[in-house]
Amino acid sequence: MRYGHFDDRRREYVIVRPDTPLPWINYLGGDAFVGIISNTAGGYSFYRDARLRRLTRYRYNDVPVDGNGRYVYVRDEEDGTYWSPTWQPTRRDLQGYSCRHGLGYTVIGASYVGIDAETTYFVPLDETLEIWSMRLTNCRDEPARLSLYSAVEFCLWNALEDATNFQRNLNIGEVAVEAGVIVHKTEYRERRNHFATFACSEPLAGFETQRDAFLGPYRGWNEPVAVARGETSNSLEVGGFPVGVHHVRLDLWPGASKRVIFLLGYHEDRRETPRGPGGESPDMDGARRTIERYLRADVVDEALERLRANWDRRLSALQVATPEPDVDRMINTWTAYQSAVAFNVSRSASRYESGIGRGIGFRDANQDLLGSVHMIPEKARARILDLASTQLVSGGAYHQYQPLTRQGNDTIGTGFNDDPLWLIHATAAYLKETGDWSVLDESVAYGDDRRTSEPLYDHLIRAAGYTLDRLGPHGLPLIGRADWNDCLNLNSHSRDPDEPFQTAPIRDGDTAESVFIAGLFCIACDDLAEIARRRGDAAAERRLRTAIGAMRAAVDRHGWDGGWFLRAYDAAGEKVGSHENGEGQIFIEPQAICPMAGIGLEDGRATSALDAVERRLATEHGILLLQPAYTKYRPDLGEISSYPPGYKENGSVFCHTNPWVVIAECRLGRADRAWDYALRINPAKRERISEIHRCEPYVYAQTIVGRDGRDHGRARNSWLTGTASWAYVAMTQWILGVRPTFDGLEIDPCVPADVREYRVVRRFRGATYDIRVENPDGVARGVRGIRVDGEEIDGSVLPVFDDRATHRVTVTLGAPS
Ligand code: GLC
Ligand code: GLC
Repeated sequence: MRYGHFDDRRREYVIVRPDTPLPWINYLGGDAFVGIISNTAGGYSFYRDARLRRLTRYRYNDVPVDGNGRYVYVRDEEDGTYWSPTWQPTRRDLQGYSCRHGLGYTVIGASYVGIDAETTYFVPLDETLEIWSMRLTNCRDEPARLSLYSAVEFCLWNALEDATNFQRNLNIGEVAVEAGVIVHKTEYRERRNHFATFACSEPLAGFETQRDAFLGPYRGWNEPVAVARGETSNSLEVGGFPVGVHHVRLDLWPGASKRVIFLLGYHEDRRETPRGPGGESPDMDGARRTIERYLRADVVDEALERLRANWDRRLSALQVATPEPDVDRMINTWTAYQSAVAFNVSRSASRYESGIGRGIGFRDANQDLLGSVHMIPEKARARILDLASTQLVSGGAYHQYQPLTRQGNDTIGTGFNDDPLWLIHATAAYLKETGDWSVLDESVAYGDDRRTSEPLYDHLIRAAGYTLDRLGPHGLPLIGRADWNDCLNLNSHSRDPDEPFQTAPIRDGDTAESVFIAGLFCIACDDLAEIARRRGDAAAERRLRTAIGAMRAAVDRHGWDGGWFLRAYDAAGEKVGSHENGEGQIFIEPQAICPMAGIGLEDGRATSALDAVERRLATEHGILLLQPAYTKYRPDLGEISSYPPGYKENGSVFCHTNPWVVIAECRLGRADRAWDYALRINPAKRERISEIHRCEPYVYAQTIVGRDGRDHGRARNSWLTGTASWAYVAMTQWILGVRPTFDGLEIDPCVPADVREYRVVRRFRGATYDIRVENPDGVARGVRGIRVDGEEIDGSVLPVFDDRATHRVTVTLGAPS
């Protein structure tokens, strides 16, 4: 069953009933000011760092779910009826409810007792405030006397402290109300140089800043006493629970409409901290200028237009038209958007990431860049340099860093031996996209030794060296704490329930090896060797090519299990992911990554491995991570079997890995399978089973419960997953086959025979390529000829024009004539 539909033209997903299986969310803002907003206006906002600069409070484990948000209550002054036009928190029986999630904005509206209310929420480009622009319309035949109450609950900035340290918290809250603007200034007198403002375009009938005064004792957000009574008391909170509530009175003639604008802003001032006497109150001058500007409806409308135009411009870097609408809407809008959101937020703040624990992950951020580099190349460049600056002199890396400080840390573990290789992969993707070789010369200091700076290129060489310095008994890379699969912790065998596998001490680990890292090494170093060659570093090129050869030989000799690729060797030197094992006989990752690296393509092993994937791992809901799932607890393998069979790393459809199989199938030229696998996890395709899938139908989720689990097909952990980038890369570069290379755009489609034509419009290195692919003979693979602006070209790489012009490209598939 469906809860809404795609509006492709407006690039919106329209939810038509508020009681979705889970809150279906969207993101406001981006680089600096970020908000999460659900289809019933739940969520919160932060400035840059979801942990350290949280503006509004959110209770993750609350019931009913999603009970904090950006709420406006409407009250009919005739009879005291009140309601929330966003459904939550009052949950009345609204008419005509809809929530339109668009790119960086959300519009929620509904009608109740003859009053229409629609609110548009967004963050203007380059501003650190969010706008709630509300339009009320009286659809009755008689005049309406109404009151509005806006409501936010402030977070005391540090979200972890805010949720734990109540003996202090309940004594520090400070607010002020200055000329109608509510100012949240907790800790401003001391170390903070920032404060929040909550403003309204209308004259106030009153306000509240004490939560208890607004809600009343033992009452929830669904029935605030101030709204029920129709009176505010102008309370000023000290300590306690600061909130921001404006009370506005409105009289509307029949048929009349009124715009009311609320602004929630973050401001920093440049004054010194700590401040001397007299510096206790926020410097409102700058804040006031911004507020006054955005309280005007014309400015708000124009800012929304600019936001839309910005997304249109970004997305125009790659647009497709295929025979499959669910492919088009994901590629043209949603997956690009999801990749960009993941790029900004990493794994920090979603319905599943509390914004407290996880900053920017090294491996994750490198992969998130793959799906957004073509839209935001400058940001990708800056991100690569940030990531390199958390690299260690050993070539390894901090597993994550906190965005505000940009300092790497080990708080969610260290020693994941695949980490550094992803930096090579991401940098190569950036170079292939942009041709900007200057990035390699940028000097970057190391995370553990700020005095040592080296060009990015040397960081990459060290990253490759990190793997080569850590080879195991079979010549395969040592796994360290884990590789891409965080829960295959072959060297950390925690038996203490209070000690997570991710941070438990790891043994020296000179035995446990990863076939996955071997494959990743070959992919990354193949590019790095080419980079070395182009930089004239022949010695490095030679070393890397030799190392790749040795790595492939090690996989040939010790990484093959007879029918498929082995996953790993554990700390005792035993096989993991082998038919000899009782459970966990086959893992998805090596079956995908090895063919992606070109391993086994010629000798039939890739075919055999991928056939095994099809036989043993593929389900109608996607491809499982492993089979059989572990039913017995195996602490020697780490966290993996701590999950019940069918969940997370223990045999769910871990969506991130599915596009890898798609790419591997493309490398074999098996187009039907690649296409079929891509569609199985395509969220839009799964829209019609929303009651099973449960998560948003417009974004990928991290996992879908596997065959062994209770609710096979149920998705969980939507939004912040590397699936978005990889699904995007698999579909655009490998299936539709428009692939950036160091030399230019390569055309190499792998499409099902019944895809007879499609179009890809691609902006690339300063020109636009309008590519029409024709498949008259219905072949899966092979380019017969390419014409660029009417001229036949040699080979399959389009010339780089860099002339701001549009070039017409016609590709004919088929056997070379
Ligand atoms: C999560 C992590 C990612 C990891 C994956 C598999 O998605 O963010 O880094 O690779 O899980 O464990
Ligand atoms: C890790 C992974 C996740 C894993 C979890 C372990 O960071 O991303 O998939 O299950 O944390 O607690």
